[in-house]
Amino acid sequence: MIAKAEPREHMRRKRDAYWSDLVGGVTGRYKTEQVAGLLAGRDLPAGSAVVDVGAGTSALSKMVAELCGLQQIICVDYDEAIVRNGRAAETDPQVEWRAADARDLAAWTDRVGAVTFFDILHELYSFVGRSGDDPAVDHAAGRAAVEEALTAAASLLAPGGVIVITDDVLPEEEVSVRVACDREEIATLVRRIEREYRSRPLEIRWLDDRAFEIPSRTLITLLTHYNKPKAGDEARWAVEQMEVHEYMKVSEYDAFLRSVGLTPSVVVGTPDEALEEWRADFRIVDGLADFPAKRVAVVAVR
Ligand SMILES: C[S@@+](CC[C@H](N)C(=O)[O-])C[C@H]1O[C@@H](n2cnc3c(N)ncnc32)[C@H](O)[C@@H]1O
Repeated sequence: MIAKAEPREHMRRKRDAYWSDLVGGVTGRYKTEQVAGLLAGRDLPAGSAVVDVGAGTSALSKMVAELCGLQQIICVDYDEAIVRNGRAAETDPQVEWRAADARDLAAWTDRVGAVTFFDILHELYSFVGRSGDDPAVDHAAGRAAVEEALTAAASLLAPGGVIVITDDVLPEEEVSVRVACDREEIATLVRRIEREYRSRPLEIRWLDDRAFEIPSRTLITLLTHYNKPKAGDEARWAVEQMEVHEYMKVSEYDAFLRSVGLTPSVVVGTPDEALEEWRADFRIVDGLADFPAKRVAVVAVR
């Protein structure tokens, strides 16, 4: 169990856990395809820069710059070790690294063609949304942090510029779902996640040894996380149990981005590999017609 879920501990656990999978694994490939589809054929303000917030390896902002003909890339991360490594490895003089928090963008005076948030907003939600020693994320505080960062990003955009977001997504339907585990070991795994995951109460109600009821909003959280301990990836589970990946529904992205003067296009979906695994391990008995979608990609134009 996490005593105090704070960003420094999260950065330490993450250091070697999963960078390669984030960018090159199933999720990395899926989000690259989603974003490439949404950006295809768009003209962004000529000669402008892309700001990649929570840049990590910066592989995705380079793809955006190439797709949209943007010259300069400003990679931003609040983890100073990532910024140091990024700077040291960079050979392209058009790529600049800045150590900053996502919410610091409000103080910038740059005018840019794109601000990207590839799988960073859930971390902002998770860590700003916590206070003191409570491992559970306060939803209102987390959402306020996400909205602060998006508002700041919108104010940097030149006309025609875009905010690009990828992340996991809350289901639109708020229903109670009855789920059956395919076999005993999956039920055991669910009980383990229920015990160890303190970032959001999963609110599971067991009906018998293998069947349970769960709100749709935490079913997606369970489905997002259970496969790491299932695969024996304890290092990644140690990282992910500190995070809540789903903080907004599509309708909430849409309403919020419109309120800051942007016009969003959104795609949702689930990588085939994840869906196949869910179908092999669980059955939706009642409440939803199928498993909720896992991933969202948003391109919002000023
Ligand atoms: C899950 S990784 C995603 C990395 C990369 N964008 C990708 O998609 O491959 C999240 C990144 O966001 C950074 N990050 C988290 N919270 C941040 C914040 N408040 N301000 C700036 N960067 C943040 C982390 O250090 C990490 O590099």
